[in-house]
Amino acid sequence: MRGIFLNLLQCSLSASAAVILLTLLSRLLRKKTRPKLRLTCWLFVALSLLIPFRPQIFSLPMPSFISSFGESAATRLDGRLNPEGFMDQSNIAEPQPGEQSGSAGAAIANGNAAAEQAETAAAEGKPLDFATVLATVWALGFVIAVAVCILRHILFLRAVKRWGRPVHGEASALMDEIRQELGIKRSFRLLTSPVISVPALAGFFRPAVVLPGEVIGEDKLRFIFLHEALHHKRRDNWIKLFSFLATAVHWFNPFAHLLNRAVITESEAACDLAVLRHAGADKRFQYAETILFTAKSGGHAKSRLASAFNKKGGNLQRRLGSIIETPSSKRWVSAICAAALFIGLLLPMGVSGFQAQADTPEDDLPRLKDLYEDYFLIGASGDLGILESQPYHLLIRQFNSFTFENEMKPQYIQEEEGSFRFARVDEIMDSLRDKDISLVGHTLAWHQQTQSWMWDDADKAQERLEAHIEAVMRHCGPDIAYIDVVNEVFTNSFYIEDWRDSLHGGGWFDVLGEDFIEIAFRKADEMRREIGRPDLKLYYNDYSLHMPGKAHAVYKMVTELRAKGVPIDGIGLQAHFDHSTPVISVRKTLELFNSIPGIEVSVSELDIGMFSSMGNGGLNTQEDALQSKIYAELFALFKEYAAGPANPDETKRLITRVTFWGINDDANWRDGQYPLIFDSEFAPKGAFYAVADPEGFLAELI
Ligand code: GLA
Repeated sequence: MRGIFLNLLQCSLSASAAVILLTLLSRLLRKKTRPKLRLTCWLFVALSLLIPFRPQIFSLPMPSFISSFGESAATRLDGRLNPEGFMDQSNIAEPQPGEQSGSAGAAIANGNAAAEQAETAAAEGKPLDFATVLATVWALGFVIAVAVCILRHILFLRAVKRWGRPVHGEASALMDEIRQELGIKRSFRLLTSPVISVPALAGFFRPAVVLPGEVIGEDKLRFIFLHEALHHKRRDNWIKLFSFLATAVHWFNPFAHLLNRAVITESEAACDLAVLRHAGADKRFQYAETILFTAKSGGHAKSRLASAFNKKGGNLQRRLGSIIETPSSKRWVSAICAAALFIGLLLPMGVSGFQAQADTPEDDLPRLKDLYEDYFLIGASGDLGILESQPYHLLIRQFNSFTFENEMKPQYIQEEEGSFRFARVDEIMDSLRDKDISLVGHTLAWHQQTQSWMWDDADKAQERLEAHIEAVMRHCGPDIAYIDVVNEVFTNSFYIEDWRDSLHGGGWFDVLGEDFIEIAFRKADEMRREIGRPDLKLYYNDYSLHMPGKAHAVYKMVTELRAKGVPIDGIGLQAHFDHSTPVISVRKTLELFNSIPGIEVSVSELDIGMFSSMGNGGLNTQEDALQSKIYAELFALFKEYAAGPANPDETKRLITRVTFWGINDDANWRDGQYPLIFDSEFAPKGAFYAVADPEGFLAELI
């Protein structure tokens, strides 16, 4: 509901800006532009009121009254942590004896208490959801506006029918003559009716031209018929209907009503101009006289969906002015004006840059990249979709590192031998180049997501591995800061003396044995020097490294190879965890890796799957609290091992980067497990606040 409202408001706001601008431009350029052009521009704005998509030209910060719009007591009390105080303890009951104890239990109890509070508030009938109330008011307004319009139109048609008398004879023959002149196939019903005071065109499918009861001379009648027939030909009643609908949707916005008036005025003016095509001064004066003649009764059509020849309250003076003196529009002037109007329109519509931001409720959040600036880089992974406005916006605000989740994998980069496709990688690199984001390449040598032709021929395997590494390093190396050279070579074994016994088969290993690891790192090293990037960090990356057996295998391999001079700079601890991952095991692994002199560690693919929530549409309060707690414990630990200067213990400066595997829950491979810190709407989950201040979060739990 809140989302719908935000869209509607943003639509209305950006269109209002366009209305103001277009009003100014039309006034300025009235003499230089034709009404048809101006009408087109107005219709363009009306369309923008109905379609909530905007070209995103630039982004403006979203006014906070919009970003907080519709936030209800319920959403603030839904058991999540609040941005300032983390866990709001003020109204939370202490866990009772027999309830779950310990910090997880406390977190769950806290969540329950807050949820109960929200329920109580709802039961007491407090105004929990302001947005819903406003949405109801809006819907009512819309229904009333449409109903009144339809009712008036029906009454108008009925009155015309009831009191109308068909016109035959000369007037009818004149109407037919004009219709044929204009090439209109459908015949018009021609009526006179005492209930109307100005001539009008009514009906969408079976048009009727209705004349007031008084006698009108033939010369004037000709103009009136021509005018109404042209209205029909130009589908002006449909245009009115369309503009009315846009106004009805935005009935609360006075600028929408201005727009509707402008559409009516310009469609009249365009029609006048069409009537006077090729007309000399005499005819113009006669036409003006006809308008004055019908204006004296001062009436209107009594329906918003009928075209009246003359409208009460219309700007008669201006209308007559343009009739006597048609704008001297030259083609090139029109073209320039059209361009100016178009740009003028697009710019305020670009205000809807905050269209995207409106759906990114993280704008006022603390930024993780700032909070962790002196500890380690904070990253997220993604594919080309990261460049869409919402994920991109979130990435730029919260993170200072980005990992290519799939686009750099061999499967996509080199599907066929020798034919490299870097377009998608390039697009991302180009968009992130000046954004102060460290890029992480992933991955060069892996037994998965790699075409099997690479290792099918044992004699060519090494050459192919090296050729692949050479091409990727040459192309991407200048832009990236890290690269996972080798990915996942170990099984999840128990402790084994020789690391080689823990290697699983497949891919490069089957043809080159464990040597492929060394070959890959040496080639990557050779290339980083060749491209002048000796600082580019070369990583070994693996999952389940919190398991002691696997951690030891990696420890032994890395220690042994480094001792031989194989240039492995870092270990990527993937960290695909879940609700049962013991954080103490992660600590043990970090201790172990910290004992390798000179090595660095990146938490490279962090996510915490919550299996029990699978398919439930989101985490419940308890799961959110539990996930938050695990994230808090992990980040408190990561800070203890942070490589940055904020870590007071210089002997434990190990972790240079922590990367979440995806930008939000929807962009993660663990479908339905809601494993990340932003939800599918890009809103922060409890876990976000736990990550933002892990110690504070944990202190509140105890
Ligand atoms: C491993 C790989 C990643 C990714 C995940 C699943 O961790 O390193 O590239 O494929 O599996 O998404």
